[in-house]
Amino acid sequence: MAKNYYITTPIYYPSAKPHMGHAYSSIIADFFARFKRIQGYNVFYLTGTDEHGQKIERAAKENNKDTLLFCNEISQIFKDLTKKLNLSNNDFIRTTEDRHKKSATNIWNILEKKGEIYLSKYSGWYSVSDEAFYSEDEIEDIDGKKQSISSGSPVEWVEEESYFFKLSKWQESLLKFYSENENFILPISRKNEVISFVKSGLKDLSVSRKSFKWGIPVPSNSDHVMYVWLDALTNYLSALNYPNENDKLYKDFWPADLHIIGKDILRFHAVYWPAFLLAAGIKPPKRVYGHGWILSGDQKMSKSKGNILDPLQIIQTYGLDPLRYYLIKEVSFGNDGNISEEKLENCINSDLANNYGNLCQRVISFCEKNANLKISESINFTDNDKSILSIYEKKFDEILKFIDKQDINSYINFIVTQLFAANKYFNDEAPWKKKSDELRLNTIIYTSLELIRKVTILLYPIIPATSLKVLKSFGIEEKDLKFETIIDHNYIKKGSKIKKIGILFKKI
Ligand code: MSP
Repeated sequence: MAKNYYITTPIYYPSAKPHMGHAYSSIIADFFARFKRIQGYNVFYLTGTDEHGQKIERAAKENNKDTLLFCNEISQIFKDLTKKLNLSNNDFIRTTEDRHKKSATNIWNILEKKGEIYLSKYSGWYSVSDEAFYSEDEIEDIDGKKQSISSGSPVEWVEEESYFFKLSKWQESLLKFYSENENFILPISRKNEVISFVKSGLKDLSVSRKSFKWGIPVPSNSDHVMYVWLDALTNYLSALNYPNENDKLYKDFWPADLHIIGKDILRFHAVYWPAFLLAAGIKPPKRVYGHGWILSGDQKMSKSKGNILDPLQIIQTYGLDPLRYYLIKEVSFGNDGNISEEKLENCINSDLANNYGNLCQRVISFCEKNANLKISESINFTDNDKSILSIYEKKFDEILKFIDKQDINSYINFIVTQLFAANKYFNDEAPWKKKSDELRLNTIIYTSLELIRKVTILLYPIIPATSLKVLKSFGIEEKDLKFETIIDHNYIKKGSKIKKIGILFKKI
């Protein structure tokens, strides 16, 4: 029976112009979703839009639009983006949907019933842009304007009646949870950050707002709407039809295996979210991975900073797979990464056109000219052939470990090394010099094609459209794609005919 795997991206604050940071979180999650599927898992990959709160309410007003109509329009832009990024998501959730309101209301009721929520008064700093409360020592004064030290977003003073969640009560349980689940937060550097934040003392968290209306009403007091983060985080449950705990989706997929998020929203996912869940008696997710930021110059790329590289424009100019490859390969996963069109062009030329594209082109053209694209029935591997083919077998468990530790950097390094190795094999074996020895000629062609097939399977989660094109030319369809076949040396059917492929990546 297939094992289940639940992976999520953050649900996005819809904005008219999605940027590269948004594309990045989604592409990374898609990478894991696709890998897990070819590993044989039954994967549920969720994304969507986070539509409540003061930020959205204000944005709708600025655009002179009814708030829900505004959300409908811009949520659609993010839904369209999932297609443009070739994401394999199984669902797209909107927090304005009834299924979500039902689930968030249920969580609230449980927390209130268990005495985890109480009414009091909040006075302190709030950033509408981050939808976050900040304490005095988390803000600074720049030219007379108060702003958050971590995000640089402006903060405003808020004083209003508010419900509070007893976060302080969960401090010790959280620390215990982190130590019992040592890989709950990755990478390790971020885990340490979170632990020291929790150890420094947690204060109760304001979880409702009274001064505006755009949110899910607090069930017991409709003067209040729920704090947008309590509302938003619950989306991960709503998509599984929570509160129906007998629902197949909920039973199969909760607790989530992996929340992919950016480091700016780590505290919400690694502190508040497990605390809400522990308090509600629901199992916390298994892992939260906080990736770094896409930078432009030395600054986080964001709408408010106006330094956005438009993913749609990049896709139009260079194509989607080059962008996916570039983001996954060149931004060291877990760290911040500075991206530019120049670096993207270099990456396309060196890795995709020269290394991978050229390998496929050369071998397939050679097979066309010398074997009429026909795979010979008789193949006789030398020890050298067997040794290069069996690298995949030797690395099989390690590759799975890379995936399970979210070590994308090692995964892609392995691919790049194998691309060089396959190119070198073809050069060194020089089949053009062996035309008189048909058996050897055919064996070199076959070995090279098998090497291409193996590496292409590993490339599939990164550049799915291109990989499928190559695999289809060997008669392999997406539905038959299995990671475990990388250890097979005789997978491409003997006696079959492969198909010619056009140029995969044009040099720039
Ligand atoms: N709505 C919240 C998430 C709620 S999840 C229950 C939110 N939305 S967001 O649209 O602002 O950000 C969505 C994701 O994009 C976050 O993971 C964030 O870290 C990521 N990025 C936004 N800008 C980014 C970069 N410049 N670089 C990389 N990712 C960053 O937060």
